[in-house]
Amino acid sequence: MTEVTQKDVCNAFKNIGAVPGDVVIFHSSLKSMGHVAGGAEAVINGILDAVGSTGTVAAATLWWDGGKEKTPDHFDIKNSPAYNGATAEAMRKDVRALRSNHYSHSVSAIGAKAVDLTCEHGTGKAYPDPWNETAFSEKSPWTKLIEYNALYCFIGCTMNVCTLKHRIEGEFVQDMLERLPEDTRMFYRQKLRYKRNPGCWAVFDIEKMQQKFAEEHLLAQSTLGNAKLIGIRSQTLLTRAKELLVSDPANWFVDKAFLAWIDEVSTTA
Ligand SMILES: CC(C)(COP(=O)(O)OP(=O)(O)OC[C@H]1O[C@@H](n2cnc3c(N)ncnc32)[C@H](O)[C@@H]1OP(=O)(O)O)[C@@H](O)C(=O)NCCC(=O)NCCS
Repeated sequence: MTEVTQKDVCNAFKNIGAVPGDVVIFHSSLKSMGHVAGGAEAVINGILDAVGSTGTVAAATLWWDGGKEKTPDHFDIKNSPAYNGATAEAMRKDVRALRSNHYSHSVSAIGAKAVDLTCEHGTGKAYPDPWNETAFSEKSPWTKLIEYNALYCFIGCTMNVCTLKHRIEGEFVQDMLERLPEDTRMFYRQKLRYKRNPGCWAVFDIEKMQQKFAEEHLLAQSTLGNAKLIGIRSQTLLTRAKELLVSDPANWFVDKAFLAWIDEVSTTA
């Protein structure tokens, strides 16, 4: 079996552009790499080595998986496990990590920007989302990752697991709503999925978009053991995704009802 070391992780992240002082966020499949000596902790430490003592490493540490038995009140920032993989769970449990206080889209971070990234989740200007309108708000880690232009990485998984895509969806929806006369916005907002309201939503085909990004040379790509490693700067991801969504919505949005919503809003605006 392929052996992967902490040094291999560090080198692979440098290969895709991580530099000292960087902010890096990653999603991971641990077993996709082969056998990692030191396990998930070695993955985290390898990325930390790539960004150095002034850098920051973050991961989504998601607890709420839609299960009816889990309500926001049950979220315990200290003890609620991350469901999104062994490396995410190792991040959450790492004694150096700070976790943002959000039941559905929490982030854990280690390093220089960890306090700033995690301290205000849920506050600031809201962006629409199908859950609670606080997950991707102005002061959330997700918006701050964009402000820091974090290197957004995938180890052995596709961009389909990119949590930041929901922030992109929210910004698209927000831009559409802001084109409308103020007194009609709530009417159109209520046609969208929200909490128990079963409306349409701005789900887009991010795996297809990943191919487009690759063709446009916007992805940094390398290997890490047996795994494919992909990185893209968060501002590039947001900006280019929005350009593609705005210029050709029918090519990217998968929910036909949402495409009809776009038409309705465009006619009214
Ligand atoms: C779903 C997903 C986590 C599955 O990946 P995975 O590698 O099978 O699972 P994990 O990363 O949790 O790692 C556990 C696996 O690593 C193996 N493992 C344990 N120690 C290991 C080591 N030192 N080296 C390599 N693999 C090891 C475990 O045995 C387990 O494999 P098994 O289930 O076959 O027994 C991954 O494909 C993925 O999608 N990751 C991103 C998820 C995410 O962030 N989603 C965001 C919300 S959309």
